[in-house]
Amino acid sequence: ALQALCLPKLEPKQMSANPFQPRASTFKVAVLGAAGGIGQPLALLIKMSPLVSSLHLYDIANVKGVATDLSHCNTPSQVLDFTGPSEFSNCLKSVDLVVIPAGVPRKPGMTRDDLFNINANIVKTLVEAVADHCPDAFIHIISNPVNSTVPIAAEVLKQKGVYNPKKLFGVTTLDVVRANTFVAQKKNLKLIDVDVPVIGGHAGITILPLLSKTRPSVVFTDEEVQELTVRIQNAGTEVVDAKAGAGSATLSMAYAAARFVESSLRALDGDDDVYECSFVQSELTDLPFFSSRVKLGKKGVEAFISSDLEGLTEFEAKALDALKPELKASIDKGVSFAQKQA
Ligand code: NAD
Ligand code: LMR
Repeated sequence: ALQALCLPKLEPKQMSANPFQPRASTFKVAVLGAAGGIGQPLALLIKMSPLVSSLHLYDIANVKGVATDLSHCNTPSQVLDFTGPSEFSNCLKSVDLVVIPAGVPRKPGMTRDDLFNINANIVKTLVEAVADHCPDAFIHIISNPVNSTVPIAAEVLKQKGVYNPKKLFGVTTLDVVRANTFVAQKKNLKLIDVDVPVIGGHAGITILPLLSKTRPSVVFTDEEVQELTVRIQNAGTEVVDAKAGAGSATLSMAYAAARFVESSLRALDGDDDVYECSFVQSELTDLPFFSSRVKLGKKGVEAFISSDLEGLTEFEAKALDALKPELKASIDKGVSFAQKQA
């Protein structure tokens, strides 16, 4: 059912094993912020996954109706709803993967960092509960500003003594999804074939598509590189402006998050050729967190694809240097917030 998610290309070994044959539904997934603009369509897409046995939906409001509605779909997973702190432990107990889209979205004129004051506290509170009730789960952070909320989550997990850097992910899949779409449109390519790694972070110039590493190999003019890079970096704002006060990307985000969930579950299920871009603790650069392609396995991040950072064009190398101070400041802001609250 999820083949339309355009997962990154499988290696020949897996292709021959037929990736679309039904598989056992074994994993428990929790969505925190499940009644929101992203949470609802994301829950629907996760409900379609053959790998999910139980889907736990948590929100501070309106989650019962969402769960009841979804539970009528005749796909394997059981849907359960949870609301308020008293139900949190049951929501998270023995969950394999937690996705967090809880938090406020941007309005026109705002930066993602303008959401920090509200969303930092939300992420901190939710990750504290994750640390207490399912510390071994994969944690996918969608709430903005991702460049700061992931470091906050890391600090909270450290304070609780359960931080596993291989299992904490900032969700940057939407940047890849957008890059793939815009490149395919511009160069008239078949969408399913295009894969553009996007590195750095998830805000403005910290989003760096490596167009020179596009697969299949594509030649771009300097003007095309400039235009595509700026469009990918500003794509979130393009949606915020089009929605004119009604929020930010929800449907494309749900699609992207569902792809990242499905890839993570495939990795947990033992597939050994799963690759995605994500904002994770990293030693690829001098920054403590950095988004790059990573290989996912049963234990989380198994390897960093460092070759993507080799042989960059002059444009990409300059853009990488330029993004570092901003990304570092956002990471430091998250870390010091969490340390002050400890
Ligand atoms: P939304 O306002 O529609 O939904 C947010 C949901 O979170 C609401 O249902 C709300 O009740 C819930 N919530 C708030 N506090 C909570 C708490 N303490 N516990 C549980 N639930 C809580 O917003 P949205 O459009 O779904 O966006 C959510 C977040 O995702 C925003 O911060 C937005 O900036 C971010 N986002 C990130 C990306 C990305 O690429 N990483 C893309 C799009 C949006
Ligand atoms: C996006 O990239 O669409 C999200 O980060 C939401 C936003 O505020 O732009």
